[in-house]
Amino acid sequence: MSGTLSVRRNLELLGRYQYIEIQMMELMGSWASTIVDPEIKIGFGRQMYQDAVHADLLGRRIPELKGRSAHFHLIPPSDDVVRLIESVWKAQGDLKRLVGLYRVLKPALIGTYRDHIAMAELPADEPTAYILRHIADEERDHCAWAENVLSRLPADPGTGAWGHDLAESLHAAGGFSGAGTARGTYSFTKVHEYSTLPVRDSRWNVIAEPGEFTEKNWSFDTQEGKLHLLHDLLNSEFITVERMGRILADFPGIPWQMKLDMARQAWDEARHAEIVQRRLEELGGRVGMFTTSCWGWEQDVNRPDPLERLALSNMTFESESCKHLRDWIKKAKEGGDGRSVQLLEFLLADEVNHVLYGVHWIDELTKDDPDRRARVLAYPARVLEGQHPVGVRFDETINARGDEP
Ligand SMILES: [Fe+2]
Ligand SMILES: [Fe+2]
Repeated sequence: MSGTLSVRRNLELLGRYQYIEIQMMELMGSWASTIVDPEIKIGFGRQMYQDAVHADLLGRRIPELKGRSAHFHLIPPSDDVVRLIESVWKAQGDLKRLVGLYRVLKPALIGTYRDHIAMAELPADEPTAYILRHIADEERDHCAWAENVLSRLPADPGTGAWGHDLAESLHAAGGFSGAGTARGTYSFTKVHEYSTLPVRDSRWNVIAEPGEFTEKNWSFDTQEGKLHLLHDLLNSEFITVERMGRILADFPGIPWQMKLDMARQAWDEARHAEIVQRRLEELGGRVGMFTTSCWGWEQDVNRPDPLERLALSNMTFESESCKHLRDWIKKAKEGGDGRSVQLLEFLLADEVNHVLYGVHWIDELTKDDPDRRARVLAYPARVLEGQHPVGVRFDETINARGDEP
């Protein structure tokens, strides 16, 4: 890039940046359930949302520059760059994936943003510079977070060469500004094999038979009950980061606001995992102290209709979770456990929104399709028939709106 950037050149570039931000969000979403390390899962939950917000900010600036047509949005920089992102997506192992995303793709994007800011026509194009400065700062934070994680992962000598080759290929492909290349036409879909369970690190003891799972029978009015329930909830928070990631990666064609909602939920659940683990440990507990169950995972992430996933998990499981949280808050108040009350009230506020995401998107996307609506709303009952894990009650859930009583 050279000279001062015109309106027209801005439009070409912002559409490309938007495409890359969304690709990065989808990479994390696709990987989250197969990444063992819980800190990485939590980081992905947070950054999926931040990259979604970056794409949203770019998408708002494009029409301000008279780019109102769809072709100004989501521009693949070049076929070679798209193939390179595909090769990062296919990389096996936490280390290679992190190196590809945080030592090659994100640093290259930060460099591209800095070049853009340096060539912005100021103050005429201060709005673009303002957005890019904000995004570049957050991307730099993502890279710093990843370096911290990478420093404690076992090194692999082959990974450095892989990252180096990737960076050279990206440069040769014209980078994210698409310099000297035609607009890309190649695309790939992030397909996922049938999944029976998300991966967990060796501390967890995941049981296969839901009928043997009794953790939800505990009550929040004793110390032991709190440990059992928080431990079970922690696993559910990880599951929800993972299943939101899968929706983002599996369904690139869903409405943009729905993607923002799903990414927001991934961030909420990532924070919940941090909060719940901290409270568990404050109360003397630890990850893996009890058995856990990922029941419902298989029935969720393999469904070809994202609305069936939301009907089952957001409108049914999370609606159930709201009732549990209200009960825990009541018992914690009665027991004088103000610290748990303080945290659980924040969790409940978020969970109510998650139920509403399910209600809203099912309502909105099936308003002209009664057959789909009937199939989607019938799905939870099909799954739950005769398969309730012990202690779970699914009454009055399907039409629950999650509102505070
Ligand atoms: Fe949650
Ligand atoms: Fe939730």
